[in-house]
Amino acid sequence: MSYETHLQRVDERKNALQKLLSEVLEGRTRVVLEIGCGHGHWLVDYASAFPDAFCLGIDIIGDRIARACKKQASRNLENVCFVVGEAWEVIEGLPPEIQLEKVFILFPDPWPKKRHWKNRLFQNPFLDRLAQSCASEAKLYFRTDHSGYMKWSKSIANENLNWEVSAKAEWPFERESVFQSKAEAFESLVLVRHSAES
Ligand SMILES: C[S@@+](CC[C@H](N)C(=O)[O-])C[C@H]1O[C@@H](n2cnc3c(N)ncnc32)[C@H](O)[C@@H]1O
Repeated sequence: MSYETHLQRVDERKNALQKLLSEVLEGRTRVVLEIGCGHGHWLVDYASAFPDAFCLGIDIIGDRIARACKKQASRNLENVCFVVGEAWEVIEGLPPEIQLEKVFILFPDPWPKKRHWKNRLFQNPFLDRLAQSCASEAKLYFRTDHSGYMKWSKSIANENLNWEVSAKAEWPFERESVFQSKAEAFESLVLVRHSAES
């Protein structure tokens, strides 16, 4: 495949994602997002517990999202939907009126080898772009069982100008995700989006 063809395909994929997001989020402004939702176990339980919230689960792997959609349908939940997409592309494809109020990143791939750290999702450019799509005082909930990834994330979060680490914010919904059920121990980090005026 030529580089031009590759770029054209990326463009087509992003346009299709943008169209899909505007369809599934039509009429919504406030959204709860789970990035890397896997098979959707955690988010269907969250949506069931918070019927007034509208929830969007995304994962880069289509088969996982297909299974998440089946769960949503079998539970007859109208306040959750699942979309296949890469985190950056989804954030950039959100309709401009959408304001994320809570974002969950639960047990993201830790990329333990140093040469792979560049692939970690939790990085300043991503936090900055995510903040643009968030409501003032939105919260980002991050949980991992990888101590190195947690250390990395705390250090980035402490320097980031758009987010503040909250020591007092509580975890809003305790339910084991698939990866949490396999973890021996884990840590959580909660960030609060600085208000637009600050
Ligand atoms: C380790 S699993 C955790 C799944 C689930 N959150 C849990 O706690 O059981 C990480 C998930 O993130 C997805 N993922 C990895 N990178 C992603 C990205 N850039 N955008 C969207 N999803 C991603 C993977 O496909 C996988 O399902």
